Amino acid sequence: MIVGIDLGTSTSEIAYINSQGQPEPIPIEGESFIMPSVVYINKDGTPEVGTAAQEKLLPEPESTFQEVKRMFGQGKKLTARGKEYTPAKISSFILSHLVKRAEEYLGEKVDRAVITVPAYFNDKQRKETIEAGELAGLKVERILNEPTAAALEYGLANMMSTKNVLVYDLGGGTLDVTVLELFEGVVDVKSSCGNNALGGKDFDELIMKHLVKTYADKRKPIPITEPRVANNLKLEAEICKKALSEAETYKVLMPFLKDRHGKTISVDETITRKDFEKLIGSLVSSTSEQIKTALGDAGLEKKDIDLVLLVGGSTRIPLVKAFLKEELEFEPETFVDPDLAVVKGAAIEAGIISGVLNEDIVLSDVCPYTLSTEVLESYGSMTYCDTLIPRNTTIPAKQTKTYQTAHDNQVIVRISAYQGEGEFPAENYLLGAFELNGLPPGPRGSVDVDVTFEYDLNGVLKVYAKASNGIDNQMTVSVVGQDDKESPDVPDVIESKINDWKKAPGADKYKSIINRAEARLSEASDEDDGEIITELRSAMEDLKLGILEQWDNKELESLKAEVLDLISDLS
Ligand SMILES: Nc1ncnc2c1ncn2[C@@H]1O[C@H](COP(=O)(O)OP(=O)(O)OP(=O)(O)O)[C@@H](O)[C@H]1O
Ligand SMILES: [Mg+2]
Repeated sequence: MIVGIDLGTSTSEIAYINSQGQPEPIPIEGESFIMPSVVYINKDGTPEVGTAAQEKLLPEPESTFQEVKRMFGQGKKLTARGKEYTPAKISSFILSHLVKRAEEYLGEKVDRAVITVPAYFNDKQRKETIEAGELAGLKVERILNEPTAAALEYGLANMMSTKNVLVYDLGGGTLDVTVLELFEGVVDVKSSCGNNALGGKDFDELIMKHLVKTYADKRKPIPITEPRVANNLKLEAEICKKALSEAETYKVLMPFLKDRHGKTISVDETITRKDFEKLIGSLVSSTSEQIKTALGDAGLEKKDIDLVLLVGGSTRIPLVKAFLKEELEFEPETFVDPDLAVVKGAAIEAGIISGVLNEDIVLSDVCPYTLSTEVLESYGSMTYCDTLIPRNTTIPAKQTKTYQTAHDNQVIVRISAYQGEGEFPAENYLLGAFELNGLPPGPRGSVDVDVTFEYDLNGVLKVYAKASNGIDNQMTVSVVGQDDKESPDVPDVIESKINDWKKAPGADKYKSIINRAEARLSEASDEDDGEIITELRSAMEDLKLGILEQWDNKELESLKAEVLDLISDLS
């Protein structure tokens, strides 16, 4: 038995494939399939999970954790009762609880699971999710993207349909937009884009801020720095938000808020749906960016979309639906249960892996981020990120590139892995780095280093490097905190194979000019010609790259003219 688990920011669910071959959620709290993702730590250190824990948010906020999923990948620790916990550890309590319920319900041992994550979760966040599963004693069979899971659920029920689908998943903490194609049981993900810091939680916070501001204006400040008051206000804000999905107005009533000195303040404020829409309007419309990117990366236009799947509790908000209708010129319909589609999809994937599901349903997913390595420019001291796996490549994916040493007698190189769309390391997220030590000394460019990136079905990256003398090293990008974002202090990076320009067809035409420029550069002094030297190096780099990549003749000729001009500018 492999179960499917949706470990959500706000709520979590667990499901399995029943004897009819259908995904079925398991009741966790009474009849309810949906459990709050809240953990309370008892005095003796034992955890309590779900509604029981949620009830402790008010009386004992210091020992209660919520929305822990948002802290994945940040290297932060949480403390309760003087003890430190990682977000993975707290999440493992949620997983253990779900699994225990499942074991009771199914009457058998459960120790294997498929766990879902937002498609836009990065490598570290995925690894921490796996870690949470392992801490709960589970073998994590697969990390599955949430929107893909929702599409699997729809796909299983509509095996014969052929459609371009846009999944819009707005949950408690994250937004994912995924474009996929369904045909004859194949779920083919084309692109995924998202925002890991946007969800219903932010809408709650906007209501809170609105109340705090309103009362500050009335000179009746809400003692928001008191954890009890903050939690109370947050719970009320969420109730208000949900109510406004149905009703036009809601009255927030909190009669006995106490500040530190025991003074009582009562909140009594009516919020209309219009007020709420004004508060969240710009956040909601900001998601058009992710929609555009996802469609663009999939090579589709709005008019090509046949179906919009709404997933996640926050898609119940009327403004979100109205926004999508206008944005996509399409009436979104709730074809799947927004709360349970993800967990059911996870169960389907679990069923495919375990073999209990014989359906011919095939899944192909993508890597939503570009993965690159830091490389030194041939000339100059700038480094940039050289892409190995472009975003939205179908997974699993493997790519090798060859680089060369950047300095004479370089015996050590640093191999790094970055995630993100920026051109430069500072714009991207450093996943990890390692050294390759023991290269044979020689002139720059004399040692080749093959770097391989391998991205697996769970969205986890492995990096290997091998030098031409046989020295090698590798990493499964390790889980390190964001504090470690600073590059490890290791010698030199390597440069790209730009020195191969000489071997490119048509290179002969440019050899003499490049040789001349290099000779002049080696004599030039930074003091006299600093700026020209930088420009010349950069023009030379472009020219070499142009030759290597066979840019058109006009461009190469204009680069050559630029190089000539700059040479004559040297003193
Ligand atoms: N009727 C409703 N109107 C507005 N918001 C709602 C409604 N019902 C639920 N929500 C909001 O939906 C969010 C929870 O959705 P869901 O359970 O899909 O998220 P999650 O899976 O926990 O989060 P994520 O997928 O981001 O990790 C909460 O912010 C909740 O307040
Ligand atoms: Mg969710």
